[in-house]
Amino acid sequence: MPAVTFDDVTKIYGEDTVALQDVSVEVGEGEFVILLGPSGAGKSTFLRVLNGLTHPTEGTVTVGGRSAGDVREEIGMVFQEHYLIENMSAFQNALTGALARNGFLRSLLTWHSQEDKRAALEALETVGLLAEAGQRAGSMSGGQKQRVGIARALVQRPSLLLADEPVASLDPKAARDVMGYMKRAATERDLTAITSLHQVNIAREFGDRFLGVRDGEIIFDGTRDDLTMDVVDEIYYGEGGDGEGGEAGAETASAGDPDESGETASEAVDPAGTPAEGGEPT
Ligand SMILES: Nc1ncnc2c1ncn2[C@@H]1O[C@H](COP(=O)(O)OP(=O)(O)OP(=O)(O)O)[C@@H](O)[C@H]1O
Ligand SMILES: [Mg+2]
Repeated sequence: MPAVTFDDVTKIYGEDTVALQDVSVEVGEGEFVILLGPSGAGKSTFLRVLNGLTHPTEGTVTVGGRSAGDVREEIGMVFQEHYLIENMSAFQNALTGALARNGFLRSLLTWHSQEDKRAALEALETVGLLAEAGQRAGSMSGGQKQRVGIARALVQRPSLLLADEPVASLDPKAARDVMGYMKRAATERDLTAITSLHQVNIAREFGDRFLGVRDGEIIFDGTRDDLTMDVVDEIYYGEGGDGEGGEAGAETASAGDPDESGETASEAVDPAGTPAEGGEPT
């Protein structure tokens, strides 16, 4: 059974903003898939219908054979704006990933089992931050914060790990570090992973499979070898992309578009219900 199935999925915002159009795709268990595409292509929408933050207008999305909206606790999500609680330690932040499993009441009591605590430490180890477990999140670098965000998602024990522009606000070295840890986490824990990314060259280093999204449609689906410069140009610039020298795609638009309007602000709190605190300047 595929880990993820999109079956003729269309998502229309409002009257006529078509964010996804007849998308049908399957992702196999353990695949590490990277979504590429220009701003407004539909990448975030793809991830959001997948983790149940928004619902398709038409079509169905299933995760492990079940409707995406019903399996939210099995889906770990990493956001660009990590949503850490700044005045808590890396360890405490990672631990909040257990909330999605344990429920809200227990979380209010901030009661955590030994098992949860062990899971948090293991997750911090996976992202190379065991030695920093006690450090206040607010004092960490952007890359470290993002790694804590990954750890928190891992504590949730997801089968599917999603990330929306997880490295958009980081310098290239920190971005590579974070992607490396995410890849390692997925490999170590047999997770299926889907992430959007603007930096094509970094995507190439880590992805097994690439989906090129443009105007709400998947216009490319292939491996690293298939992802030639011409293909990158076509994904970002459209048919016959005519990018001179074929270089246009690399490192394209790495700034991304941090604010995605309306729905995002209220819905972007992660599935664990972590408070969206510390939205810091990028
Ligand atoms: N909450 C919303 N309400 C109305 N329109 C929306 C909403 N979210 C997204 N859209 C629109 O849907 C389309 C796809 O947006 P989406 O955020 O999925 O693109 P994206 O590929 O993630 O872009 P970016 O690279 O800038 O993050 C765009 O036209 C966008 O303006
Ligand atoms: Mg987006």
